[in-house]
Amino acid sequence: MTALLDAGERLGRDELEALQLQRLRATLRHAYENVGFYRTAFDRAGLRPEDCRTLADLARFPFTVKADLRDNYPFGMFAVPEDRVRRIHASSGTTGRPTVVGYTARDLDTWADVVARSIRAAGGRPGHKAHVAYGYGLFTGGLGAHYGAERLGCTVIPASGGMTARQVQLIQDFRPEIIMITPSYMLTLLDEFERQGVDPRSTALKVGIFGAEPWTEQMRREIEERFAIDAVDIYGLSEVMGPGVAQECVETKDGLHIWEDHFYPEVVDPVTGEVLPDGEEGELVFTSLTKEAMPVIRYRTRDLTRLLPGTARAFRRMEKVTGRSDDMVILRGVNLFPTQIEEIVLRTPGVAPHFQLRLTRQGRLDALTVRAEARSGATTDDRVAAGRSIAAAVKDGVGVSVDVEIVDPETLERSVGKIRRIVDLREDG
Ligand code: DLL
Repeated sequence: MTALLDAGERLGRDELEALQLQRLRATLRHAYENVGFYRTAFDRAGLRPEDCRTLADLARFPFTVKADLRDNYPFGMFAVPEDRVRRIHASSGTTGRPTVVGYTARDLDTWADVVARSIRAAGGRPGHKAHVAYGYGLFTGGLGAHYGAERLGCTVIPASGGMTARQVQLIQDFRPEIIMITPSYMLTLLDEFERQGVDPRSTALKVGIFGAEPWTEQMRREIEERFAIDAVDIYGLSEVMGPGVAQECVETKDGLHIWEDHFYPEVVDPVTGEVLPDGEEGELVFTSLTKEAMPVIRYRTRDLTRLLPGTARAFRRMEKVTGRSDDMVILRGVNLFPTQIEEIVLRTPGVAPHFQLRLTRQGRLDALTVRAEARSGATTDDRVAAGRSIAAAVKDGVGVSVDVEIVDPETLERSVGKIRRIVDLREDG
């Protein structure tokens, strides 16, 4: 296995930390000298890039948040002249201006390298065919996966998202070994295989590389079982790079190794901003170590996780992301994440792995309805039992009462990319 690792993956911890410090200091200098936003922020904090003498010193530097990127729309965060920017991506955002990110030729090269490393860690090899069903376009998923797969030496099938019937056809005809897709869209494909009467276990697929949204161990089991593949997690965000910031190794499937030679992670208390020791759960924060066009310093991802020691690689791992602070529902004082409901729905007999959460207001209190879909063939009794079982499991496991509605098969909206789990019907919500 070691023979397959690239130079960065073979670094020992000490060598890695020395490299990180050197890259971190260069990044702070690059940001300070070339981005007005960082110069102002550092000056305000009374800090110079040279004040970072150890990796721990980074904690003295100010955070960057999504609003800072929006305020500097479109190109204010760029640290190189516009004619050195080779590619622009943007994340739509639900309201207002999109968040814009840029890449130099070298950034695109680095990105392809880390995605190639990710696909290899997932079990992909040169010569494999990779079906890329992440959306192509301003979203980083499609093109990020695409160039990484080419870099590894795979044959890419740039399917993008949508036209689901055709995707199933292509998977049968072209026989890819790898699929890169959101987990929720994989379930949409599963329905389509069944609709076409094709056994989803009969394809050439060996490995699925799933990310762009949170998913659970229950979902992993469902997908692995139904498709007879290994399902591993890929993480990333456009502000930091795109897919390929961290990747789960197929041999351990124990959380995602962060490609720490390019992205420096911290976990902080989401309220106080204090850095937490490894092992404690909090908000993930990233500082880029090699980016030229748009370095990010202490970018707050809003994703909640823990840092853990390395296993299959020397790099530290992040635990599977349980949710984004933005997706947390506070229901009568209890915090609830869609992934907690996913775990419950997926282990409940009689219901399909599709669900939606509806938030409404009843009087002065918020109420949540879990809408889950009956499996075809489920009887009325099965549906009643499933509804009761989900409500009881949420009450026991999460500690709050919810309404459960078991809807007819094939009635909930299907994902073609990132799924929206929460439908907020509160008037001022
Ligand atoms: O979703 C990049 C990506 C594409 C990652 C394809 C993996 C695969 P954004 O659109 O900027 O970028 O959204 C980033 O998506 O902060 C997380 O909240 C969420 N996310 C991404 N990967 C995972 C994952 C892409 N594996 C935001 N598990 C992040 C949980 C994820 N959440």
